[in-house]
Amino acid sequence: MSAFENNSVCLYGFLGLMYKHDLVYLTEDASHDAVIELINEEAFGPGRFTRAAARIREQGPHDRTLSFICADDGETIASVRMTPVLAGSVKGHLLGPLAVRPSHKNQGIGRELVRIAVEAAKRKGSEAVILVGDPPYYDPLGFEKVAYNALTFPGPVDANRVLVVPIAADTHERLHGSIVWRDGSVPAVVAEDEDANEMVPLTAIAV
Ligand SMILES: CC(C)(COP(=O)(O)OP(=O)(O)OC[C@H]1O[C@@H](n2cnc3c(N)ncnc32)[C@H](O)[C@@H]1OP(=O)(O)O)[C@@H](O)C(=O)NCCC(=O)NCCS
Repeated sequence: MSAFENNSVCLYGFLGLMYKHDLVYLTEDASHDAVIELINEEAFGPGRFTRAAARIREQGPHDRTLSFICADDGETIASVRMTPVLAGSVKGHLLGPLAVRPSHKNQGIGRELVRIAVEAAKRKGSEAVILVGDPPYYDPLGFEKVAYNALTFPGPVDANRVLVVPIAADTHERLHGSIVWRDGSVPAVVAEDEDANEMVPLTAIAV
């Protein structure tokens, strides 16, 4: 059982000693909005609003229950957001932006945020986690290439950077067509076992 699943405190002493950090991963809430904006501005600059993925995010809100921040000693230093999307006929989630402050890069924080977000999406019944990103970073985290040009974004993307964690068995077959925002308050799939779909807010994973 992972730290996320049992919502317990998990201490990685080695990392803590190495970097003298007190890291906690939390479910995003509105109090994080301003600092997340600053982190994304620092990471991506003004061009971030013109990206094709940003155009999808403009269509509707992200899902806070699947979006997470990392705080170091109370200061938010990294963020990942997830937006519900319909991609072809797949009811999935678009991962991003993912950003870690320069002071905290290369300590596994980005990877951990992706892991937590993907795990949370699976628990919520999402059929896929999709993103536009660098394959060398995301492939080891379970992402696979989407068939070349299978998805049409509301703007140009490099088709080689469109990646997916397929959750439903036939995800790849159904990832054909346009990708648009969808209303995430409607469950992606109806869970046979309601407990399996129950979300636990992440409030206390310390690293
Ligand atoms: C990309 C980013 C989120 C990675 O977060 P991080 O916490 O520093 O990364 P992690 O500690 O989890 O992983 C570090 C490893 O990933 C590698 N890595 C970082 N960015 C990479 C990239 N774009 N492509 C391939 N590898 C990358 C590092 O070289 C390092 O490799 P190593 O473990 O072999 O030394 C962070 O650098 C960042 O915020 N960048 C600016 C915004 C951005 O590009 N976001 C991603 C959009 S797709």
